[in-house]
Amino acid sequence: MQKWSLNFRLWHWIHATVVLGLLGTVFLRKTFLSWRANSEILTSKLSSIDISVTTEQAKMLAKSIRAPMWEWHILLGYALGALLLWRIALFFTQSGKQNYQNLSQETLHKKIVKLGYIAIYTVLAFMALSGYVIHFYEALGLSKDFAHDIKEVHEFAYNAILIFAPLHIVGVFVAENRDEKGILSDMVNGGSKT
Ligand code: HEM
Ligand code: HEM
Repeated sequence: MQKWSLNFRLWHWIHATVVLGLLGTVFLRKTFLSWRANSEILTSKLSSIDISVTTEQAKMLAKSIRAPMWEWHILLGYALGALLLWRIALFFTQSGKQNYQNLSQETLHKKIVKLGYIAIYTVLAFMALSGYVIHFYEALGLSKDFAHDIKEVHEFAYNAILIFAPLHIVGVFVAENRDEKGILSDMVNGGSKT
């Protein structure tokens, strides 16, 4: 029997792509497509061709340049919701639960890694729920202030994903080169059960 079923591997790689995609949209929003930076560029470039715009107008222009990119945050957000439901279904399969069985017999390092996975699943579920609340606050009958408060927590919790993703990727590469040969390729070819 394989360690990771095809079902689980498909889930892992699609999920990894979606989470990295979500981080990518945040990166763009905070750098190249930042409305603050771009509204300043727009103001100065337009003034060099004798067009003057107010701060509000420049902000509106910069935000509309950013908007098509940010739609991907919402689209990938829906995908994340579906992937989390898929992951819940996978918990009822051997591949989906093996990392969380017989934890007491594991080394301290492995216990921490596996608790880390549980923690990141919890944060991801919170990101999805809070994301939908911010996006649909009007339809849900919630106030703008409340949606804004939730956005602050959504943005804060994002740091956990930002730290986990590179740590996890570096971690599996280090493990592959030390005492867990095959950990990486098992997630590609399924591996075999020991
Ligand atoms: C693109 C580079 C990535 C590589 C090479 C990679 C590789 C792996 C490998 C080898 C495992 C198995 C580890 C084990 O047996 O404990 C694993 C598990 C896992 N990965 Fe990744 N991963 C990547 C990206 C991501 C990303 C971006 C996420 C998003 C949060 C993620 C989430 C997870 C989770 C939650 C598990 C635990 C699976 C379980 O519940 O048993 N991975 N990954
Ligand atoms: C890995 C998962 C996610 C991460 C890391 C993440 C990260 C972030 C961050 C950092 C912000 C604040 C951006 C800023 O103001 O500079 C944000 C805003 C937002 N996110 Fe997410 N998010 C995730 C999942 C989701 C999901 C599942 C949805 C659901 C549709 C969602 C919807 C939103 C919305 C509506 C905003 C507010 C945008 C605005 O104020 O215009 N996010 N997200």
